[in-house]
Amino acid sequence: MELLKKRIQSEGKAIGKDIVKVDMFLNHQIDVELIQAIGQEFHNRFKDKQITKILTIEASGIPIACMTALYFNVPVLFGKKYTSETNDNSTYVSNVYSFTKKQEYNIRISKEFLHENDKVLIIDDFLANGQAVIGLLDIVNQAKSTVCGVGIVIEKGFQPGRKNIEEKGLQVESLAIIDSIKDGIIYFI
Ligand code: G4P
Repeated sequence: MELLKKRIQSEGKAIGKDIVKVDMFLNHQIDVELIQAIGQEFHNRFKDKQITKILTIEASGIPIACMTALYFNVPVLFGKKYTSETNDNSTYVSNVYSFTKKQEYNIRISKEFLHENDKVLIIDDFLANGQAVIGLLDIVNQAKSTVCGVGIVIEKGFQPGRKNIEEKGLQVESLAIIDSIKDGIIYFI
């Protein structure tokens, strides 16, 4: 998506060789018009899949999922992150390890909102190692619902997230794929 790549190139800040900060429009301040265009693009790519629910994870996935859901006319469901050990029979839980943040957390989704007949589109802001998406997939499997695809705003193509998801037989659509980061410059595939 050319518009998105231009924004990453002009406003994104490269941190070392593997982190891109896009706080100007995605992760802190939010450019709603851009997110709307992103939602429309995800709709174009997955409109034939009879999606019944958009699934994401808090926090940055939520606005993107909401704009996408507007085009599909379906609800958004987001995984809540928590660290407590309490057992709760009313929720599905999956454990995720973030390599970027070097910490483990649980994601929780109420059983009330995810059902066997749901056809789910997973949306997230970044794809790095794919652990957040794999946690969401685990929850969808627990609910016996179906994942119809994964939509990512910014994929870091030099990390193994895509491979880890595609080997589960899923379609991954990323709107901008970063090939490498060198001397503060971001290169796309
Ligand atoms: P993974 O899910 O693909 O394995 O990614 P990982 O655990 O390594 O990433 C953890 C968090 O860091 C995620 O946000 C992810 O979106 C974010 N992240 C990964 N790489 C980058 C990057 O290059 N730039 C930025 N800005 N973020 C990155 P999160 O913990 O879920 O936080 P949030 O949604 O509350 O913002």
